Amino acid sequence: MAVVAGPRVTFEPDGRVLVATAGQTLLDATFAAGVPLDSVCGGRGICERCRVVVTHGEVEADDARGGRVGGEVLACLTRIVGDVSIEIPEASRIEGEQILTGMERWDQLLSTPEDVDVAHLPREVSSAAERFADGPLAFALPLDLPPPTLEDCLSDAQRVARELQRQHGLRDVSVPVEVLRAAPVALREAGWNVSAVLARTSVGHELIDIRPGGGPTRAFGVAVDIGTTTVVAHLVDLANGQTLGAAAAVNRQVRFGDDVISRIIHAGEPGGLDQLRTAIVGEINVLVGSLARGHDIERDEIVAVACAGNTTMIHLFLGLPPAEIRREPYIPVATAPPTCHASQVGLRIHPRATVAVMPGVSGWVGGDITADVVACGMDRTPELSMLIDVGTNGETVIGNRDFLVCCACSAGPAFEGGGISAGMRAAGGAIQRVQITQAGALTYETVGSVKPRGICGSGLVDLLAELLRAGYMDRAGRLQPEAPIVRGGPAGPEVLVAAAESTGIGRDITLGGADIENLLRAKGAVYAGAALLARRIGVSMSDIERIYVAGGFGAYLDIRKAMLIGLLPEVPLERVTFIGNGSVAGAKMGLLAKGTRRRAIEVARKMTYRELSVDPGFMEEYVSAMFFPHTDAARFPRACAELGFS
Ligand code: FES
Repeated sequence: MAVVAGPRVTFEPDGRVLVATAGQTLLDATFAAGVPLDSVCGGRGICERCRVVVTHGEVEADDARGGRVGGEVLACLTRIVGDVSIEIPEASRIEGEQILTGMERWDQLLSTPEDVDVAHLPREVSSAAERFADGPLAFALPLDLPPPTLEDCLSDAQRVARELQRQHGLRDVSVPVEVLRAAPVALREAGWNVSAVLARTSVGHELIDIRPGGGPTRAFGVAVDIGTTTVVAHLVDLANGQTLGAAAAVNRQVRFGDDVISRIIHAGEPGGLDQLRTAIVGEINVLVGSLARGHDIERDEIVAVACAGNTTMIHLFLGLPPAEIRREPYIPVATAPPTCHASQVGLRIHPRATVAVMPGVSGWVGGDITADVVACGMDRTPELSMLIDVGTNGETVIGNRDFLVCCACSAGPAFEGGGISAGMRAAGGAIQRVQITQAGALTYETVGSVKPRGICGSGLVDLLAELLRAGYMDRAGRLQPEAPIVRGGPAGPEVLVAAAESTGIGRDITLGGADIENLLRAKGAVYAGAALLARRIGVSMSDIERIYVAGGFGAYLDIRKAMLIGLLPEVPLERVTFIGNGSVAGAKMGLLAKGTRRRAIEVARKMTYRELSVDPGFMEEYVSAMFFPHTDAARFPRACAELGFS
């Protein structure tokens, strides 16, 4: 029978070829080929970052911006009909980009088992020994087995178990039938000199592989932050905790909706849950594949994964129906799902690699927040702390070692670059700092000091604060048309941040009224959640001794400017610590230390969830926060004095 192959996509100039599916978009084909394109909007034709040149072939367009042969098109709007050749301009590539996740401080902490300088870190961070307490989720041990004889005629399984106990003191090892099937050949071909790869379980250990050679065997793990907007993966050497590399991408589920609610609705449609599950698993596979390739690691050598994400993202990753999370009384299928094997969830690593997720609290406060708490250590200090995670969901936790209370609100993806015309994640070319000079000129710094490609969260915070400070934007977020950097745009006044000739994308980078409205809504929701939670538990902002700020801003966030726009409550600056991506930091700590995983379970159990969506006070707080910095100047005296607001 003839095999019908799909159309071939040739990537020029290197000649790489991929067999695609007719009707597939060029964006999907590039992801499948491991050449991920910049695609901030997730393939919805909004961001216009996914530009490619179709040099020849057969394509068709979803609209006028796609489907042309011989010119630049949007890959997400161009469908493959027959064989096609494409060129990817430098500005559209994200492969090899320096991804910043705000993790540098945590990297230093987690990658050096001994004698780390933690002076600049939150003082509650645990000791080095504790970070590796009870060891990583999976590990490899050398095993030199005596060959069987008539006098020593134990079964293969008994022999392995006996030697693991004799040589390594392990008593509680289970051996699944898949490993037993391969064991006779693996042991004999290796001359009984092997490495045993083991995963830790809640009741002991599971032997997940037997490999030839008794010397040091490589074993790697991946910590993943599954965000609603972005996905971040860190590749870790499980032998020493060293972070080998990081990769990030837009969560491909974005095409089914920006926020958690629209994803839950899509999951309820026929085939929807599987589409969402496949999208996130595929994205993680792409990230892990590119990390493995970049470090000469076989996928089979990756034997453990720890994930953190909000409860809906974890449901979609595991294929659990999330419908009840959005219906009162908001009940998830599970907040702490059991560990499983990679093959059960579709991850293309070692099929029996252990996959663990950080435990969550409720349908609206997930394991990403537990990971934040574990990472910053607020659960073990007597001082009253507040954690604010600025993401598509804005979550707040208040407490200390005696109690923890949390809430969540829908903030939208604006500070992660989503829904902002020039928004992007904190990666190479992102404008991360902005200043407006006395003379009214706008200056900026980009990640990697390269030509700008967009504006990331920290740049957006800076830009709003500078527009307010310079008097180019009023408290309601209206741009002043006569300001020197403001011009008339297609939808009203807009700020010209960088002119086309100075950018890396060949187009102007601007911020318009709709972008500012999105940012105002996001900052209003984040602040309202934090303020209302404090009010409901009878705490005033002046009682808070430390504020930890988490979020995908990048390596940098100007706290003073975040207060100037009213995103963060106004407290003395020295009380605020920016922890960056605490979710992937906590997941990595869970990957490396069983002690941390136990602590995360304890934190999740101890945290009390307050449902604010039914609290009439939320809308009141939100509406008051829909001005820069706030309608109540008494809450932001320092900011209002600086901005000349009364
Ligand atoms: S326009 Fe194609 S991914 Fe955004």
